[in-house]
Amino acid sequence: MKKYAVIGNPVHHSLSPMIHAQFAEQFGLSISYEKILSPLGGFAKDSMDFIVSGGLGFNITLPYKVNAYEFCSKLTLNAEVAGAVNTIKVERNEIIGDNTDGIGLVNDFKNNLQQSFEGKEVLIIGAGGATQGILKPILDCNPEKILLANRTKEKSLKLSQKFSKYGKVCGFGLNQIKAKSVDIVINATSASLDGKMPEITGGVAQGAFCYDLMYGVETPFMKWAKENSASKVSDGLGMLVEQAASSFTFWHSKTPDTKEVIKLIRAKVD
Ligand code: ATR
Repeated sequence: MKKYAVIGNPVHHSLSPMIHAQFAEQFGLSISYEKILSPLGGFAKDSMDFIVSGGLGFNITLPYKVNAYEFCSKLTLNAEVAGAVNTIKVERNEIIGDNTDGIGLVNDFKNNLQQSFEGKEVLIIGAGGATQGILKPILDCNPEKILLANRTKEKSLKLSQKFSKYGKVCGFGLNQIKAKSVDIVINATSASLDGKMPEITGGVAQGAFCYDLMYGVETPFMKWAKENSASKVSDGLGMLVEQAASSFTFWHSKTPDTKEVIKLIRAKVD
């Protein structure tokens, strides 16, 4: 049986085994997909042990996406630009790293939410690892521009400079964002994890499509968006399934159907 896994810490909550089992079933593939809890400092050893035991690919979740980037012998362009790897494929003595998070977000917008980035003004809140992973795939969709707002302004300025070769990105401090509404607001901060809301003016949400990368609960950002007249609000559950679908395609060269799997996972987390 072909062996796959997800490595992280913590990892017990991961829905990836269930998602990949569903995808594999669509094609009658017989695969195993296990959860590997790797102690801090143990990522490289645990990954190598899995590969030596016959593992053909694995996903990487927090906090190891940058470790995985350093571990790979070869990177896709998306992984290179993101500076982080969430999917590894083992192939003929190469350990190939990809990052499917950004494509997952773009495919969720396109396939499930009927939202396009083309010609849109997009506000992204946060300038950490998650933002770095989604910037290029969004810029590849030709938005009019991306406003990148972060609590620590220097980080958004630095990221916007780094990504300006792929499209129009302007960096700001959170407190510099005006009340003028935009088309799309994406919360890519880790504030939701702490049950917090980035301090930002409500005016930007008016009539906007508001999206939180977090999933499973209504986050303070989602509540804020509804209270501030967003046209539509979504969590990131579709992105979770779509990034898994891209990983699946990277490993098996088959494109799974995501619609039913999203429904199943939604029923599981709600
Ligand atoms: P991740 O990999 O999830 O992006 P990260 O790299 O640690 O995690 O980045 C976390 C992001 O969330 C940062 O942009 C952080 O802002 P700072 O750069 O100012 O630290 C942002 N963030 C976390 N908590 C926040 C809060 N309560 N309000 C606003 N921004 C917050």
